[in-house]
Amino acid sequence: MPHLIAPSVLSCDFANIQRDIEMINASEADWFHVDVMDGVFVPNISFGFPVIKAIKKHATKPLDVHLMIENPDHYIEDFAKSGADVLSVHYEACRHLHRTIQLIKANGMKAGVALNPHTTVSVLEDVIMDLDMVLIMSVNPGFGGQKFIQHTVTKVKQAKALIKKTGSTAIIEVDGGVNTAKGAELINAGADVLVAGSFVFNSDSPAQTIIDLKSL
Ligand code: DX5
Ligand code: ZN
Repeated sequence: MPHLIAPSVLSCDFANIQRDIEMINASEADWFHVDVMDGVFVPNISFGFPVIKAIKKHATKPLDVHLMIENPDHYIEDFAKSGADVLSVHYEACRHLHRTIQLIKANGMKAGVALNPHTTVSVLEDVIMDLDMVLIMSVNPGFGGQKFIQHTVTKVKQAKALIKKTGSTAIIEVDGGVNTAKGAELINAGADVLVAGSFVFNSDSPAQTIIDLKSL
């Protein structure tokens, strides 16, 4: 499949959120990447349900919600009701990951699992058949604008090999420090979805930057 682009709204102008959502609607982007941080799992707090609902009200493309929170099971139904289409939880935050994945699907969403940079891809061996998406973090989660960790490219190849070996239908998303140069390497390695925050929103023309990423 042609790769997808998911601009991260974490880097948008929150005083003009509707304007930035309309920009993404009109652009070549495929999804909205929505980062939820609780100040416990990661050392930062972003936003919660009211903001996601506000995004959903205007967005014409799927919401790809990335939970950087402890105890995600408690809130899965609320994220579904807020408009999440794809919901990713962190492997490191889930004691009963299989149950959490089933809960996401039972609530009508696609299920993703995110891996921190220190977490090996092999931990997904026993759930890969249940997953719709593997989210490989290419920075330590918590902040936009960080430097891409190069080892991620190897992890994408490992995830691709695992998916191929098992016949899983999961796709691979990469998140953090992505620009056109890194994006090209990642797609070569097997990435299906590129998240980009600061690279898109800090550029002179976000819509053109999305085209640049889409045409890699
Ligand atoms: C980081 C978030 C990312 C972030 C990416 O914790 O999960 O989605 O918004 O931002 P950039 O592309 O600026 O690294
Ligand atoms: Zn994210």
